[in-house]
Amino acid sequence: MSRLPILVAACLFLYHLPSPFAAETDSPTTAYSLLQSYNFPVGILPKGVVAYDLDTSTGKFHAYFKDSCSFSLVGSYQLNYKSTISGYISENKLTNLTGIKVKVLFLWLNIVEVIRNGDEMEFSVGITSANFGIKEFLASPQCGCGFECKELKTETYDTSLPSVSSS
Ligand SMILES: *[C@@H]1O[C@H](CO)[C@@H](O)[C@H](O)[C@H]1NC(C)=O
Repeated sequence: MSRLPILVAACLFLYHLPSPFAAETDSPTTAYSLLQSYNFPVGILPKGVVAYDLDTSTGKFHAYFKDSCSFSLVGSYQLNYKSTISGYISENKLTNLTGIKVKVLFLWLNIVEVIRNGDEMEFSVGITSANFGIKEFLASPQCGCGFECKELKTETYDTSLPSVSSS
């Protein structure tokens, strides 16, 4: 009987393991699929958007997270998304963005514009911009740990099942 809670916890854990195929196929329109419909990769938005709204006539949108969201991209920049971000979206173009900051050296700068140019994504902070390959944005980073926790999770998923039952 004393093992029951552990079993229940294990079942819940298994039940909630993400399926690699569930993410994009069974969901209705999300902020992520919306991005894709404007020709953007999902990875410019971290995981955890709980709601969004869009005025399709102007492209004005808001996206909402539960909390603000920070993470670093490995060997690269630190990013911060406020719990509400906004801007205007059109094909290949996000403009007048608010709520997204990048740390460059010791300064936090607002990312005001993101433009897709073929296989390049151009991030503009007003005074300057930087280009990144679109491949960097195929998956959404996770708040807190960016892509590092994602790798960790995959490893745990692949190797941890025997140790769950033996511990
Ligand atoms: C968007 O930003 C540009 C440049 O800062 C500004 O001129 C323009 O008025 C803004 N547009 C809207 C709709 O806020």
